[in-house]
Amino acid sequence: MDIMFPLMLILGLVTSITALPIMNFDVFDYGATGFGEDDDSQAFMDAWRDACNGETEGEAGVIVPEVGSFLLNPIMFYGPCNPQIIHFIILGTIIAPGSPTSWNGLDSSQWIAFKDVTGLNVYGSGLVNGQGKRWWDQSCRYHPNKDGCTKLAPTVFKFLSCNEGTLSNLQIVNSPQTHVLIIDSKGFTVDNLMIQSPQNTPNTDGIHIHSSHEVKITNSIIGSGDDCISIGDFTSNIYIANIICGPGHGISIGSLGKDGEMVQVENIRISDSSFKRTTNGARIKTWQVGQGNIRHVIFENLVFDDVENPIIIDQYYCDVRGMCKEEKTGVKISDVVYKNLYGTSSTNIAINLNCSRSVRCSGIKMKNINLVSTQPGKPMTSSCTNAVGTEVGVNPACFGN
Ligand SMILES: *[C@@H]1O[C@H](CO)[C@@H](O)[C@H](O)[C@H]1NC(C)=O
Repeated sequence: MDIMFPLMLILGLVTSITALPIMNFDVFDYGATGFGEDDDSQAFMDAWRDACNGETEGEAGVIVPEVGSFLLNPIMFYGPCNPQIIHFIILGTIIAPGSPTSWNGLDSSQWIAFKDVTGLNVYGSGLVNGQGKRWWDQSCRYHPNKDGCTKLAPTVFKFLSCNEGTLSNLQIVNSPQTHVLIIDSKGFTVDNLMIQSPQNTPNTDGIHIHSSHEVKITNSIIGSGDDCISIGDFTSNIYIANIICGPGHGISIGSLGKDGEMVQVENIRISDSSFKRTTNGARIKTWQVGQGNIRHVIFENLVFDDVENPIIIDQYYCDVRGMCKEEKTGVKISDVVYKNLYGTSSTNIAINLNCSRSVRCSGIKMKNINLVSTQPGKPMTSSCTNAVGTEVGVNPACFGN
């Protein structure tokens, strides 16, 4: 009896493998050099074309081998593909062109993009290097007076309309701007990523989600010059857990409503994460001209280490603080739970709910929060304006009830 069970297991495995062959397409077989100097884009395009046009019944994979450094110019991998599952396995290193001139005449918002690919899995033990330095040096954000400064720099990985996709196990460094962008996608999972860019780099968000639903981001280490993760407009059912964030601007919902649009963001859960020396921790930021809703948000089990604004809602977000005039509009923020949040802040306002005078925050629930100053003994306060809610065990108290 006890020998039958493993035997059945092995037989089961063998039959499932033969039932679903994975056809692999190695970029070396398509003429990639792997020297990191010559453009290997064509080899990648050709391998992708064959994988994407593979058998409908099977799975297909593009393999980027471990031995090699592959220089890619701006590149877009299009679906839809025949196989229900496509693997894009990065074992070696992929590097971007070092100079922004490689984007001349091309869309400077993206470097590696996937579009309309359902069931795409991008993973491997490899490294993807965006070589952002030259872009950072010419960004209008940091060099507003520089001739020909740029506002828009490439995202390393853009997933556009990629339902049921995954991105995992990779190291992504030095993006010219956002590292990973998930847009117009439903059911996307990010797991076990390491994202790293220097603290003083412009708009280098770790992961940005926009117009997407059922997105999970877990077990990742993110340090950059902007938000570790930012949640944009038209998003719902977003689950973020086990993130180590820092340096960076924290995990943010927003900024939303910049152009007066109807914001629609709901069912967001951010849990079991830590922030080290970030400017913000749990943040929601909206422009006054925005309308619509942010609702059903949970921030729980978070630890802050020397964070400037551990808990913050800023409904007066503006390019230059204080320069936007008072508006009668605002995004309605409701049902936000803050639970089990601990640690230290480097400023003297631990909880700052700066809600709109016109459209107040409601249904704020705070439970078990203890935030103290990074400098032992220094007093801490909370500032909660135009916010309605309840609190239990909150230090420093927000509502004072
Ligand atoms: C709230 O926002 C207004 C407008 O930007 C600003 O003047 C004020 O200082 C903010 N309050 C706090 C406590 O940050």
